[in-house]
Amino acid sequence: MYKLLVYINDQSLYYFSNTTLTSFGNIYTMKNQLLFLYIFFSFLILQITSQKHACDKGSPKTSNFPFCNTSLSYESRAKDLVSRLTLQEKSQQLVNPSTGISRLGVPAYEWWSEALHGVSNVGPGTRFDKRVPGATSFPAVILSAASFNESLWYKMGQVVSNEARAMYNVDLAGLTFWSPNVNVFRDPRWGRGQETPGEDPLVVSRYAVNYVRGLQEVDDEASVKGDRLKVSSCCKHYTAYDLDNWKGVDRFHFDAKVTKQDLEDTYQPPFKSCVLEGHVSSVMCSYNRVNGIPTCADPDLLQGVVRGQWGLDGYIVSDCDSVEVYYNAIHYTKTPEDAVALALKAGLNMNCGDFLRKYTVNAVNLKKVDVSIVDQALVYNYIVLMRLGFFDNPKSLPFANLGPSDVCTKENQQLALEAAKQGIVLLENNKGTLPLSKTKIKNLAVIGPNANATTVMISNYAGIPCRYSSPLQGLQKYISSVTYARGCSDVKCGNQNLFAAAVKAAASADAVVLVVGLDQSIEAEGLDRVNLTLPGFQEKLVKDVAAATKGTLILVIMAAGPIDISFTKSVRNIGGILWVGYPGQDGGNAIAQVIFGDYNPGGRSPFTWYPQSYVDQVPMTDMNMRANSSRNFPGRTYRFYNGKSLYEFGYGLSYSTFSTHIASAPSTIMIQNNITISKPLDIFLDDQAIDISTITSCLNLTFSLVIGVKNNGPFDGSHVVLVFWKPPSSEVVSGVPIKQLIGFERVHVKVRMTEFVKVKIDICKLLSNVDSDGKRKLVIGKHTILIGSSSEKQVRHHIDITNGEEFMSE
Ligand SMILES: *[C@@H]1O[C@H](CO)[C@@H](O)[C@H](O)[C@H]1NC(C)=O
Ligand SMILES: *[C@@H]1O[C@H](CO)[C@@H](O)[C@H](O)[C@H]1NC(C)=O
Ligand SMILES: *[C@@H]1O[C@H](CO)[C@@H](O)[C@H](O)[C@H]1NC(C)=O
Ligand SMILES: *[C@@H]1O[C@H](CO)[C@@H](O)[C@H](O)[C@H]1NC(C)=O
Ligand SMILES: *[C@@H]1O[C@H](CO)[C@@H](O)[C@H](O)[C@H]1NC(C)=O
Ligand SMILES: *[C@@H]1O[C@H](CO)[C@@H](O)[C@H](O)[C@H]1NC(C)=O
Ligand SMILES: *[C@@H]1O[C@H](CO)[C@@H](O)[C@H](O)[C@H]1NC(C)=O
Repeated sequence: MYKLLVYINDQSLYYFSNTTLTSFGNIYTMKNQLLFLYIFFSFLILQITSQKHACDKGSPKTSNFPFCNTSLSYESRAKDLVSRLTLQEKSQQLVNPSTGISRLGVPAYEWWSEALHGVSNVGPGTRFDKRVPGATSFPAVILSAASFNESLWYKMGQVVSNEARAMYNVDLAGLTFWSPNVNVFRDPRWGRGQETPGEDPLVVSRYAVNYVRGLQEVDDEASVKGDRLKVSSCCKHYTAYDLDNWKGVDRFHFDAKVTKQDLEDTYQPPFKSCVLEGHVSSVMCSYNRVNGIPTCADPDLLQGVVRGQWGLDGYIVSDCDSVEVYYNAIHYTKTPEDAVALALKAGLNMNCGDFLRKYTVNAVNLKKVDVSIVDQALVYNYIVLMRLGFFDNPKSLPFANLGPSDVCTKENQQLALEAAKQGIVLLENNKGTLPLSKTKIKNLAVIGPNANATTVMISNYAGIPCRYSSPLQGLQKYISSVTYARGCSDVKCGNQNLFAAAVKAAASADAVVLVVGLDQSIEAEGLDRVNLTLPGFQEKLVKDVAAATKGTLILVIMAAGPIDISFTKSVRNIGGILWVGYPGQDGGNAIAQVIFGDYNPGGRSPFTWYPQSYVDQVPMTDMNMRANSSRNFPGRTYRFYNGKSLYEFGYGLSYSTFSTHIASAPSTIMIQNNITISKPLDIFLDDQAIDISTITSCLNLTFSLVIGVKNNGPFDGSHVVLVFWKPPSSEVVSGVPIKQLIGFERVHVKVRMTEFVKVKIDICKLLSNVDSDGKRKLVIGKHTILIGSSSEKQVRHHIDITNGEEFMSE
């Protein structure tokens, strides 16, 4: 343990450490080593033939324009192009698809493609055909998030962008993908929770940064703003968007009332990280209002924050028909021209839909918006297309030789299987029932409405997968005698007609795998849940099948959002419970490998498992994160929820037990004014906190925690180190989180071995509290670091943050 001395110098904080870390040689597991290298070589003939691009050398008339001159900057090329357009032409390029300008040799372009967890054909810019019949379909993001493995997320982005480029080269895909969804999974009922990396702002931020970089980076070195792009990614839906349709309230009409405090420490962080660290080239504004203003019409949120404070190098796009929605659905403006002018002035650059094509010319002519604002919007859009190589000879691009044979490769599909295995969460394992024996079990019953799931596993915003392995098919690889019974005809399970066959199958087997859960008929875009319980008679199915089994029952929950399964506590014969999210194209093999012990599960729940009573108590429309006892509001997510949960955020078991210890950490961080400066900054608030908002930067104010992880056996496996922080209570800042994740790292440890992980902590960013004005304060006092969730033996460490004299007198 050591001390850090931090000085305030001019407008910055920086530190001198009076002790350096002892070196552990090569045994550190370094954070997020991005080792994956592309292989651009292909021994196949180039696939590119007919694809349209601007600046075609075949038409010398147009390729001589400055916008085609690759020695000029992207910006001057974009400006040159825009300067050549009529107002009518301009309005046609602000929407998807943009019509193109044939007289200048600029082809039409469909801006809307999707790649949430694999190349998807949900957007009109991408389709499959005989040449590319499918693409690698990763698990729903909520399950990949549960791996807590940053290098996995980065690799997934790389695989998806490889396949996307390969499909672009044969005219099957666009270059601009409106993914990922980085909204925080605030409420367990949200139908789109499956698309997100869960309820914690740090996990969502880290997921966003890694996935976006994996999609966009041309090679591992390039991550700077303004670079060439492999494909363009988009962080959506900005902001405080996480209600689709709940008890008659829909996203088009919903006005999210959000406090400054919640905005700053819950809703905005993923977007901020996505822009600042992920260098994303697009942000999408959402349908909803935030505190009365539609996000796509809010100059503070768009022009002010995204463009101004964060410096987005890219374009801002509306969710599909957002502008029309705030005109038609809530009559936010008097005329459509006003709606369009408002959006453009707020900072919108691209309209998914056709409102801007229809009304921009009139809006300009009526002087509601200046044409220079239209021009600027187009420049932002074109710069992105130029960075993507749309205005270059496609054969000259670094991805020119990718083609259909680079889609659904063995390696890519292997990563989809790997992602599912890494995410699966072991919730219960009574008396070590799991893993099941491959040899002792002679007859297996595989039961349940999701037991032979295929399309259910690829969730929403999917494409066509390369292939499927259903749970049934995966399990059949281990046991030759398998009886299958559906139990319910679908997840709604409206009757018990199929129960008898299920009970019979269970009664004659040595073990039962029962796969229950949800699908898009229960949780979906446009459909939030009302209950957290299993739908219909599914609960009864679990009880009846469990009662009939003479061996053990393994319950598999295939669903994105949490389910109140507290009834299972009183059901005998349940040997183990797994949560498998929607596990993607190879979900069945992943589940089977976990159940039979070929993979030791290490996933952690990316959300809190609330009891049903939670949703009876809390309206989904209440955006508050913080608990409020005066109105009986229990708060949201592990950071603020003060009630009982079934499983905590971060919960997850393994077939092994792990123990952790802190090998190195500071015990004291003292912050002092640099007294040699004539006018020391007055940033100490009554000796209780430091007002970080008055400091322009906290330079290099990070320290590393070194944590040892020991695998006590009996299996090799991966362990997720979760680093939580409990702030001291303070009068300066109210509404501090109960605890807050400030770092995580997944590490593989062999039996009886110890590995060390190093987690970097940024003091100003991660150890500060947000006050009710949305300002960050670093609170003086005893801060607690907590390693691990409640499912493991937690390790505590205190760090004193002081501004006092005691440090000097030592
Ligand atoms: C491209 O731009 C450069 C830099 O301005 C200029 O020197 C060159 O002549 C231009 N090339 C063409 C073909 O116009
Ligand atoms: C399982 O699903 C697959 C794919 O839909 C189907 O071909 C197969 O017949 C199903 N198996 C059973 C036993 O119903
Ligand atoms: C919710 O659960 C209640 C009973 O707890 C049930 O009556 C109702 O039908 C359920 N609603 C839905 C939409 O599943
Ligand atoms: C708690 O709720 C009450 C009643 O709505 C409100 O007056 C009060 O400001 C809230 N307190 C906090 C800290 O938000
Ligand atoms: C304090 O500030 C002065 C003037 O900027 C600088 O020369 C000196 O190095 C600083 N001292 C420390 C300990 O940061
Ligand atoms: C921060 O640390 C890095 C690496 O040690 C160093 O290169 C950089 O100059 C430092 N920046 C400042 C502002 O001290
Ligand atoms: C993280 O994911 C990568 C990519 O799949 C994998 O190689 C690595 O083993 C994973 N790390 C752990 C500790 O499981």
